[in-house]
Amino acid sequence: MQRLGADPFSLAAATGTSATGTSPTATDSGRLALQTVVADLDRELARCLVLASDRAAPGDERLAAAILLARAVPTCERAADLLAEWLVPQSAPETQSHVIDVLARSGADRVPAVLAAAWPGLGPAVRTRAVDAWLSRAGWAGDLVSHLETRLIRSGDISLQQRDRLLRQPDADLVERAGKVLTGSASPARQEMVARYKGSLEGVGNPSAGREVYTRVCANCHRRGDLGRELGPNLATVQEHAPARLLANILDPNADIQPGYSGYTCVLGTGEVVTGLLATETGGAVTLKLADGSLRSIARSEIEEFSTAGRSFMPEGVEESVTVDQMRDLLAFLRGGLD
Ligand code: HEC
Repeated sequence: MQRLGADPFSLAAATGTSATGTSPTATDSGRLALQTVVADLDRELARCLVLASDRAAPGDERLAAAILLARAVPTCERAADLLAEWLVPQSAPETQSHVIDVLARSGADRVPAVLAAAWPGLGPAVRTRAVDAWLSRAGWAGDLVSHLETRLIRSGDISLQQRDRLLRQPDADLVERAGKVLTGSASPARQEMVARYKGSLEGVGNPSAGREVYTRVCANCHRRGDLGRELGPNLATVQEHAPARLLANILDPNADIQPGYSGYTCVLGTGEVVTGLLATETGGAVTLKLADGSLRSIARSEIEEFSTAGRSFMPEGVEESVTVDQMRDLLAFLRGGLD
């Protein structure tokens, strides 16, 4: 496919320039040349369509053909569906990001649907690109807000800068809806639980009793001083947090997920299911940090499905192992000095 690299639009534009000449013969020959280019272009697009749809053809040639199709109005919708094939965990993140940029530029109506279908399997870096794509057209931003409302997309997936862009959309109704979903992310049942534990914010807790609660319930995932394992964030930093905020973090972890701590599920070709935090991602492999703290590297070719439900890797329901009095002690321990 030697000619795939040729840009049909710059070709057409170049021919168009020669057609603006003043002499009538120049114009005529310009028109003729333009007709030839249009015919060539149609033929090229038809060829690309065949190639891109041919699953037996080499992947990089198919991708190049699909990218070219995305640039032409008559074929961009079809191209959006074809390009969806590369928005899968088996593709390197750079390829996925590139495909998303191509989709965004194509402006095809199918793009928001293609992004939403791919969303659960996208890694964090590619997600940022996808949100940028949704935000790149006023008509698509509404689709983004709908997915925030249904919680397909969590507010934690939207960067501060993207929030700002969303809240500056021209449509006032949309901005109001966006404002609601971006601020009120806590679930009502969980908020009720936080209210039930309000008693733990009053009175004086016993830090050494709290240390025992910590060792029993939290140390499996959190390090603090010389205690525990660092799967979740190191809790030395929460010392300064207001007790009410800490309580909400503990009882309603999904309200405010620290970036990089969503749980991922990977289904392998062998049927094995691996769950963990996404430690690193390269073109060829995904590395998950498992609940026991070990790392597991999985080749992209082994992956059947890869997704995150956008939920925190910290489980809800900690209260089942911690009474209100123990919570008071735990808060006193977390807010006390590291010894
Ligand atoms: C199964 C692992 C797991 C257990 C058990 C667990 N956590 Fe977490 N925790 C996490 C992960 C992962 C995060 C980061 C994701 C998030 O913010 O929700 C987190 C986040 C937090 C945060 C927010 C940190 C910040 O920097 O804002 C606090 C506070 C916290 N946990 C406290 C606790 C306490 C206290 C316990 C014990 C009662 C506990 N966790 C039990 C995994 C765990």
